[in-house]
Amino acid sequence: FMNQKGWDFTNPDLLVEGIPLEEFACLRKTAPVWFNAQEPGKGGGFHDAGYWVVSKHADIRDISKNSEDWSTNRNGVIMRFEDDMPAEALEVTKALLINHDPPEHTRLRKVVSKAFTPRAVHGLEEKLDAAARKIVQEAADSGNGDFVHQVAVDLPLMAIADLLGVPQEDRMKLFDWSNSMMNADDPEFTTPPDVASAEILGYGYNMADARRKCPAEDIVSTLVNADIDGHSLDEIEFGYFFILLTVAGNETTRNAISHGMNAFLDNPEQWEIFKRDRPATAVDEIVRWATPVNSFQRTAVRDTEIRGVKIAEGDRVGMFYGSANYDEDVFDDPFTFNVLRDPNPHVGFGGNGAHFCVGANLARMEINLMFNALADIVPDITKLDAPRRLRHGWINGIKELQVDYGTAA
Ligand code: HEM
Repeated sequence: FMNQKGWDFTNPDLLVEGIPLEEFACLRKTAPVWFNAQEPGKGGGFHDAGYWVVSKHADIRDISKNSEDWSTNRNGVIMRFEDDMPAEALEVTKALLINHDPPEHTRLRKVVSKAFTPRAVHGLEEKLDAAARKIVQEAADSGNGDFVHQVAVDLPLMAIADLLGVPQEDRMKLFDWSNSMMNADDPEFTTPPDVASAEILGYGYNMADARRKCPAEDIVSTLVNADIDGHSLDEIEFGYFFILLTVAGNETTRNAISHGMNAFLDNPEQWEIFKRDRPATAVDEIVRWATPVNSFQRTAVRDTEIRGVKIAEGDRVGMFYGSANYDEDVFDDPFTFNVLRDPNPHVGFGGNGAHFCVGANLARMEINLMFNALADIVPDITKLDAPRRLRHGWINGIKELQVDYGTAA
């Protein structure tokens, strides 16, 4: 029941080759709630505790919607065992919004959700549209190069810098910190994650001081002046909001844009449809296809069961979005990239529960603006080489995608 890498679906050596679609398809059919006794993220070695692999769309939806039975606070959302992580570090990650359970989660989420309503996001549209066009034009002028760094990286950074109130000239700092914090499993990223997190926290605290003295129209001002049942956020809560917002929308949206381009380059007929009709459905198909976050975990709060399989209190359950988004019970022809797919109830942003991606509206807008700019400015773009993929335990990432922008005179 295993390939040569073992079926630890959080093993970076497995995901570096892409979402293991065949293995997931097999599990969905034969063992949709499957216990993996391997130690997560290690590529071999067994762990007494192990974790459950949940691969069906319907089950992931059910778990996501039920925060009473399924906690993110007990072990966090990232599948790592305590012995991989110093106890203090684990304790601190619990300060992240995503690692709180209701009712604390509900109170904290209210503080930021206002910044991401469709209306608030719409207010950024003109600016981000101009930014997307400038990014693509500069890439086009270079003739050819790495799409990831020339095109995909910058728009998500600009958007989050703008929302947080970070001056645009500092946005590359956010980029470096978030790369180091998120990509410790890839040997190309060398700054230790704890150094990066200390630096980002220091930066956030300085901004918080400035905004306490003189508030502006940005999320940092909202956070430092937040009133949660008569309390403001404490320093740690503020700091970890700042980290989560910086990191969460950065790699994810970048990878959606890079995977989307790669999918269009592999499926030229879909690129033709997009260029001609600009279907609004394309964005969600890109997120489904890419599934930038392959998995997040929950921990069972009490003895329970999924599809009749008994799960004990304290057991960890991996929700594999990368499987659910290709579930043949939900999607016709799931292995076909189809920009006209409608409906498209993918779980790329999570399964519609309390933790559903707060930045989904923003991410959708960024991806839409970017592909419209690409279709207008570099309609004849072609691929020069296969993408180089990120080595990571839960992010489905592309590090480099060499393209010819088709703009040479
Ligand atoms: C949560 C994916 C963009 C901020 C999540 C979750 C997923 C996800 C899977 C967890 C959902 C759950 O557990 O139910 C993505 C993808 C993105 C993206 C694929 C891009 C294509 C963004 C952006 C931001 C953002 C642009 C903000 C600037 C967050 C935050 C949470 C979250 C703060 C935690 C919400 C909570 O716990 O209440 N995202 N995300 N994300 N995302 Fe995103």
